[in-house]
Amino acid sequence: MINKEQIQKKLIQTIYPGFTKNIVELGFLKEITIKDAQITIELAIPSSAIEIENQLREEIIKRISTLGEYDIAVSITKPKIPRETSSHGKNILPNIQNFVMVSSGKGGVGKSTTTVNIAIALAQQGKRVGLLDVDIYGPNIPRMMGIDGVQPIFLGKNIKPIMAHNIQVMSIGSLVERGASLIWKGVMVTQAIEQMLEDILWDKLDILLFDMPPGTGDAQLTLAQSLPVTAGVCVTTPQKVALDDTIRSMDMFTQLHIPIVGLVENMSGFICPDSGKEYDIFGKGTTQPLADNYNTEILGEIPIEPAIREGGDSGLPITVLAPNCETSKRYQEIATKVWNAVLKVNEEGGVNNEEIQPTIF
Ligand SMILES: Nc1ncnc2c1ncn2[C@@H]1O[C@H](COP(=O)(O)OP(=O)(O)OP(=O)(O)O)[C@@H](O)[C@H]1O
Ligand SMILES: [Mg+2]
Repeated sequence: MINKEQIQKKLIQTIYPGFTKNIVELGFLKEITIKDAQITIELAIPSSAIEIENQLREEIIKRISTLGEYDIAVSITKPKIPRETSSHGKNILPNIQNFVMVSSGKGGVGKSTTTVNIAIALAQQGKRVGLLDVDIYGPNIPRMMGIDGVQPIFLGKNIKPIMAHNIQVMSIGSLVERGASLIWKGVMVTQAIEQMLEDILWDKLDILLFDMPPGTGDAQLTLAQSLPVTAGVCVTTPQKVALDDTIRSMDMFTQLHIPIVGLVENMSGFICPDSGKEYDIFGKGTTQPLADNYNTEILGEIPIEPAIREGGDSGLPITVLAPNCETSKRYQEIATKVWNAVLKVNEEGGVNNEEIQPTIF
């Protein structure tokens, strides 16, 4: 007679599509029932995409069938209300009103730079802002915020965020030795993020922004499972190869039921400081069709500008150094749009990308 352990062993081999962990490890397995020759497996998954459901069901039936002749039923519960799914409805950080994830499919497109400047712009608009660097593999926030080397204060096992440019900041980079996290595997990433969420003593915040590692991996999934992520912002650059990766990032938000606020087109054109002439280095305006496809908008176009890079390197972001320049104004506009979108999600409890069927990545 077959037992539950044998079935669970098979389920452990089933990786959740698009991620590196299996469905048991992720806590998606709810129940295994065996009655005579009938096996019922109940799962609850965070995606409402029919493709994911079908793929999982097919794979599970195939794996369990290798154990013998059984009548196998796989019941998959999918989320209905987007806000519930992201976090199973609860907020483990009640001090914080809203959570915004800034992501990109591709590395080096300017996620951290964009997150920092949006965060500062929001603070300049009077919001209580937090910034959490979740980029386990390459934490850049301490340098960009000018707190590289500053040690956070520990209170027992808890840590107080560091104040910089009127923002409460915490980074995995302030907590681990340089380079120590480079070899972390998926499970360690999950544990580190869960630990960070538990241990940091945030003051009351209107909004907490997450600077994510590039891609669509365990860090994103862990956050979406741990917190009611209010909305997601995608950063991209205009060249076509970056857009392919951006699609993956948008699909990830859709799968995790995180409402997409919009896209920031970074490194969009270059205005020559000598001639004032504009050059399209990576192209320009190529992101619009993508935004249309996902019922979302371009939040802003940020040009290639030496002052942005210098601001990142020196710890004095452009929004601090030159708050009235054209680029800082664009960051201000993006921040306003992000805030308005967050308010809208709170009011309507819904998303604008609900009808979209994600492609599986
Ligand atoms: N619009 C811009 N103009 C000039 N330099 C920029 C611009 N945006 C970003 N940079 C510079 O490009 C580099 C990469 O940016 P950033 O670190 O923000 O990217 P990222 O997407 O966070 O990278 P990673 O994937 O490694 O986390 C940095 O040196 C940054 O200062
Ligand atoms: Mg970064």
